[in-house]
Amino acid sequence: MQTKHELIPEPIGLDVDTLPRPLNFSELYGNANPVELEIGMGKGTFLTEQAKCRPQVNFFGIEWQRWYWRYASDRLRRNGCTNARTVRAEASFVLQEFVPADSIAVLHIYFPDPWPKARHHKRRLIQEKFMPVVHRVLAPGGRLQVVTDHKGYWEENIGPAVRAAGGFQVVDYNRPGSAGEGEFVGTNFERKYAREGRPFYAIAAVKRTNPGQSICW
Ligand SMILES: C[S@@+](CC[C@H](N)C(=O)[O-])C[C@H]1O[C@@H](n2cnc3c(N)ncnc32)[C@H](O)[C@@H]1O
Repeated sequence: MQTKHELIPEPIGLDVDTLPRPLNFSELYGNANPVELEIGMGKGTFLTEQAKCRPQVNFFGIEWQRWYWRYASDRLRRNGCTNARTVRAEASFVLQEFVPADSIAVLHIYFPDPWPKARHHKRRLIQEKFMPVVHRVLAPGGRLQVVTDHKGYWEENIGPAVRAAGGFQVVDYNRPGSAGEGEFVGTNFERKYAREGRPFYAIAAVKRTNPGQSICW
């Protein structure tokens, strides 16, 4: 893909091969602010808006496609988002190998790839086996937020996996402040699909602080 300017991912974009395992977020950002993580940030619209308007929060983006990772990292750099870091890698791998337990305040997944062909459904990120991975990295009381346009993915995987996951309580979906009027989150894919008139499906769940405990918001 082409851009009018050169894409410079550094210093926002990190090289996964040189990262410590586990990551030390306080050292990485130079502060102990809460960390929010987005999987599959694409062009980085959500991450950039959030990092700009919430400097007291650290943002970490994971994107496995090289061009999108470079584009989003360069965009964050040009916007002066010193509270953001990104890595080009597969998200489950990063969560399991690099992200410390109980370290993430909010995990955002917006318009995850639906892998529509039946023989590819096993590649879908959000399914039963993914939820313990999410549970491990979320801080107690931390939140998972998911939005999709894909009815099949929603009905077959996302809804059932999130509702059935142990150690979570399903709560109201929180519309980020950076979302435009009528938007769920305000990403490129949401805007494209909204123009096509597609319906959207959203869910949020919070990691219980103690087994069996209810969370009041
Ligand atoms: C449909 S796009 C949505 C992009 C953005 N969230 C938006 O709403 O505009 C999904 C993005 O997630 C990335 N992605 C999908 N699965 C991934 C995985 N397992 N690890 C890292 N990135 C992934 C894709 O490369 C793609 O950029």
